[in-house]
Amino acid sequence: MKDLIKKLTAISSPSGFEDEIREAICQEIQGYCDEIKVDALGNLIAVKRGKGPRVQFAAHMDEIGLIATDIDDKGFVRFSNVGGVSPHRLYGQRVRFTNGVVGTIGSEKLEDVRKLALDKLFIDIGAQSREEASKLVSIGDCCTYLQGFDDLGKRVVAKSMDNRIGCAVLIEAMRRTKECVNEVYCTFTVQEEVGLRGAVTSAYGIDPALGIAVDVTMTGDTPEAPKMAVGLGKGTAIKVKDSSVIAHPKVKQLLVDLAEKNGVQYQLEVLTAGGTDAGAIHKTRAGVPSGVVSIPCRYVHSPSEMVDMDDVEASVRLVSLVMTSDVSSVLP
Ligand code: CO
Ligand code: ZN
Repeated sequence: MKDLIKKLTAISSPSGFEDEIREAICQEIQGYCDEIKVDALGNLIAVKRGKGPRVQFAAHMDEIGLIATDIDDKGFVRFSNVGGVSPHRLYGQRVRFTNGVVGTIGSEKLEDVRKLALDKLFIDIGAQSREEASKLVSIGDCCTYLQGFDDLGKRVVAKSMDNRIGCAVLIEAMRRTKECVNEVYCTFTVQEEVGLRGAVTSAYGIDPALGIAVDVTMTGDTPEAPKMAVGLGKGTAIKVKDSSVIAHPKVKQLLVDLAEKNGVQYQLEVLTAGGTDAGAIHKTRAGVPSGVVSIPCRYVHSPSEMVDMDDVEASVRLVSLVMTSDVSSVLP
């Protein structure tokens, strides 16, 4: 599992540029599903046949990044954000463009560090002129954090755990689940970080009876963290609410019952800011009862996001249980 996480987090695939991660996931799920398709926006949809209702799982495969907006005379690249990127996490950070070009982020001089904003920062790709830089990077090219994977034992840290860890959980659940009771659509969605866009089209196409997003959530267990009951190592998190969705009470209950009956450690999650693909899925067509299996994660959207392997395992087990259990309790 750690090898899979290492492999997926090493890939640079910001929103809108998911080709590389989609290709990698495709390889990992070969032989573990009955059909693989890619829709018009680039969502990867893997079907595991079963006789029960259609259940859509959605793990977004994109990640936050930066996009080149301008190159100056001296070859410095200016940029905007793709998804939620804080300027305070960028200075000195190395980035890699999807074409492989590496740069580091510098800052204009600032009288007051609190005034740091994205437009005070630039990417230095080692070029000495606009002409030289333009051969390496074009306007609109995207990059992501360049950060390795580290195994800290029970916990692992890497860039883009949001949401490569969700992808890894879904892949592992697909591999472990031999016989699906339900008709399972494992969706690896595009463009979540810019507004749940891949979830909108994939859910419309699939028209599921039940939707489950698999994504990270934040924790309240670091020094002076915002008050939040979720902690690392306390189990998979069953979402009650975030800013994009109120989990359908019957779906939340289904997840809680499955966890309790099968001895899967879980915690309940209320995330006060942030959303996930379930926010789009539950509003599809005439409405889809939806919920979320969350993997607790520290330092979300920073270059070093941390998860606990026991929580990862609990999440795999809960996702697999939904694939193989009677879900008729959530149907209208
Ligand atoms: Co995110
Ligand atoms: Zn996410």
